[in-house]
Amino acid sequence: MARPYVITIASEKGGVGKTTLATNLAIYLKGLAEDLPVTLFSFDNHFTVDQMFALSKKPVSNHVGQLFTESDPAELVSAGQYGVQFIPSCRQLFERQNHLQGVNHLAETLSRSTLQGLVIIDTSPILDIYTRNALYAADRVIVPIKDAPSLENCRNLADFLTEQSLSKATLRLLPCLIDTRIHFDGPFKNSYQLLKAYAINRGYKCFEGYIAKSPKVESLATNPQGKILPILTHGRSTDVHLQFMHLARQVYLDYLQHGPTRMTIVADQLYNLETLLERERRQRTAKLHPGCLCCDNSLPEDGIWPGAYFLEDSDGRLSGFIEENCFLDMVLQDCYGEQKGRGAADSLRELFAESAERSYLLLQHRVISDDQSQIDFYRLDQHGEKISGRTLLIKQRGLFNRQRGSRLLQLFQKSAASEHPPERQLLLAHRTGNQPLAMIEQQAYLQWQTVFSRIRVDLAAESETEQADANT
Ligand SMILES: Nc1ncnc2c1ncn2[C@@H]1O[C@H](COP(=O)(O)OP(=O)(O)OP(=O)(O)O)[C@@H](O)[C@H]1O
Ligand SMILES: [Mg+2]
Repeated sequence: MARPYVITIASEKGGVGKTTLATNLAIYLKGLAEDLPVTLFSFDNHFTVDQMFALSKKPVSNHVGQLFTESDPAELVSAGQYGVQFIPSCRQLFERQNHLQGVNHLAETLSRSTLQGLVIIDTSPILDIYTRNALYAADRVIVPIKDAPSLENCRNLADFLTEQSLSKATLRLLPCLIDTRIHFDGPFKNSYQLLKAYAINRGYKCFEGYIAKSPKVESLATNPQGKILPILTHGRSTDVHLQFMHLARQVYLDYLQHGPTRMTIVADQLYNLETLLERERRQRTAKLHPGCLCCDNSLPEDGIWPGAYFLEDSDGRLSGFIEENCFLDMVLQDCYGEQKGRGAADSLRELFAESAERSYLLLQHRVISDDQSQIDFYRLDQHGEKISGRTLLIKQRGLFNRQRGSRLLQLFQKSAASEHPPERQLLLAHRTGNQPLAMIEQQAYLQWQTVFSRIRVDLAAESETEQADANT
């Protein structure tokens, strides 16, 4: 599938001509290659794109904000004037940005879409989450510069690309709003030559030529029709028309000569990541004990259990589920002294199950001496911080004698590689609800691993302190 080539117009300086450039470049490019789909949208909230391209005044519900939802960009696009298609602007874009994280969302969305041809993105003069997303997705970033400060501001864009391990060569500077009436003495005759020399000196690449400041072009934004008129149709007599033609040819040539587009690279990365995640998920599934770790009842084929706990040891040797009743019997009998068959403490079971939903349960087995071991039972919050705990002392001959010992101890026996128990073993359990397999999905398992790592670090620190205390 041919993926789109993305051109982002960005500058942290306001009023340098970004929107004028984005909108008119879209029209000139369409003029150069009639069959090439050209799609334009703006993360600016001035609605210039809509005023220039909308075929009717009828409001539409699609807007650029939806590029950050699960919507397919191809479905957000409206047919527009001059053959340019556009995604309507959004008034609440800035209120929405608080919900956004990550600079790769737009790139991933565009790389999955069926949108083709050229995508031109106009941005606001702030390096906010939308601009960052537009930069991250870009094959070409065009930065209009009109003076020394706007040139200095390019550094933030370049730094962002470097931070993201993207090439600075994506940037092309373009002197804009150049007042050609002003001439200097010395080697640089006008502000265009001066800006270009500054830019090259700082290691930036520039397009050939510039866009001049023209009263005619400025007037195209103000007219009785209440529309913003294009240079191609209403400013043909200006030098800016020729300058845009020259610019569009350079951009089009870049497009024709490009290697794999940014969207193709992002799509490949996504594919590799998804393949990797799927492989990891399969590995996790393969490791799962086939039935309940306690009673061996097998997991129903539809994967639905009335209630279950996911449990894994710290080195991933033991991994699987325990039916809710088995787990409660085991923990309540071993740690809370509830006696089997007495049916007492239904309320304790309910309470336990309810709080287990919001917490993680950690079991730690420690060998104290040849005939004594200890099981610590901790309830942890969602982040792995201890909330409460209790300790169970186990005194018996032959610690890992399978005939004897508590049921919790039997669980540790299953997790140990040999008959000899390691000095310290950890098991983490979490109540999974009735779809236990959801626990091995990426997000849930990642959270699980984070909690497990956190508590391991805490326990190691505690143990060091104990050791230090014992030595003094
Ligand atoms: N070549 C030009 N000649 C004269 N005026 C121009 C030219 N290009 C843009 N302008 C005018 O300059 C002003 C700023 O342009 P524009 O809105 O394109 O800048 P911008 O960088 O998008 O601004 P913002 O940062 O506010 O989004 C507008 O009034 C526009 O009509
Ligand atoms: Mg603008």
